[in-house]
Amino acid sequence: MTGSPSRPFANRIVLITGASAGIGEACARAFAREGARLVLAARRRERLEALTPSLLELGAPEVISHTLDVRDRGAVIDWIAQLAASGHIPDVLVNNAGLSRGLSPLHEGEFRDWDEMIDTNVKGLLHVTRVLLPHMIEQGRGHVINLGSTAGHIVYPGGNVYNATKFAVRALTEALNLDLVGTPIRVSSVDPGLVETEFSIVRFRGDEERARRVYEGLEALTAADIAEIVRYVASAPPHVNIVQTVVYPTAQRSPWLIAREPEHP
Ligand SMILES: NC(=O)c1ccc[n+]([C@@H]2O[C@H](COP(=O)([O-])OP(=O)(O)OC[C@H]3O[C@@H](n4cnc5c(N)ncnc54)[C@H](OP(=O)(O)O)[C@@H]3O)[C@@H](O)[C@H]2O)c1
Repeated sequence: MTGSPSRPFANRIVLITGASAGIGEACARAFAREGARLVLAARRRERLEALTPSLLELGAPEVISHTLDVRDRGAVIDWIAQLAASGHIPDVLVNNAGLSRGLSPLHEGEFRDWDEMIDTNVKGLLHVTRVLLPHMIEQGRGHVINLGSTAGHIVYPGGNVYNATKFAVRALTEALNLDLVGTPIRVSSVDPGLVETEFSIVRFRGDEERARRVYEGLEALTAADIAEIVRYVASAPPHVNIVQTVVYPTAQRSPWLIAREPEHP
């Protein structure tokens, strides 16, 4: 099924990993408004279930949710086999599931935090992409959009392993574009600076006060800002491949250079 030029996503299938919160949830809303059919995955089933009615109301003709940990390679393989069998290979894959843990110097870092970040941000993205891409190639269309980060361009103190995972995402976006030359499949990344989501609460393992201070004294990006960029990147005509988009809040000019209101140094 194809979308019309005025509604390019009408009846197109958009798959979003990490759709239960933040940027992924906002992407689900943005594509629902465009009339896309949605395939959503995350670990928190109840969050996905709670989101579904509002997505249908916004205009999504179909919403399929799946409880998935992208780190579980076998589960990813089984799920995508089911999607292929039911005709739900997406036109757009938003590889959004990701997280940071901790902000310690590397020599004080926790192995479990490193495993979680590497297994989710790098290997999880690889699992989903590796298993879906042959189907996209076979159907002759597809667009992979990776959520990278400005942390994949410039390191910051304590960012070490999170930075390394996002540098890896940037390398994989480039590598995929090389490997897919001659196919119609496009690969893009959207690389934001500070976006106010649950990201910092997850990073600081539920310390809401510490998470709040990350965004204090500046107008951070919102998840909806990033979803609008993802939607724009996906809506470019098929001969246009927007490979990379770097976006900061105006108050932030690098991961470590932020202008905060004077009372919040
Ligand atoms: N917020 C920022 O400042 C910022 C900046 C640049 C880039 N990013 C990137 O943007 C992406 C989304 O982050 P966010 O800010 O929206 O954070 P968020 O609000 O914490 O949302 C993260 C999402 O990822 C999902 N997720 C985490 N681990 C998963 C796993 N193993 N399997 C499946 N889903 C998983 C979570 O769902 P469940 O917990 O339900 O599984 C949740 O839906 C991440 O890749 C992040 O690195 C964020």
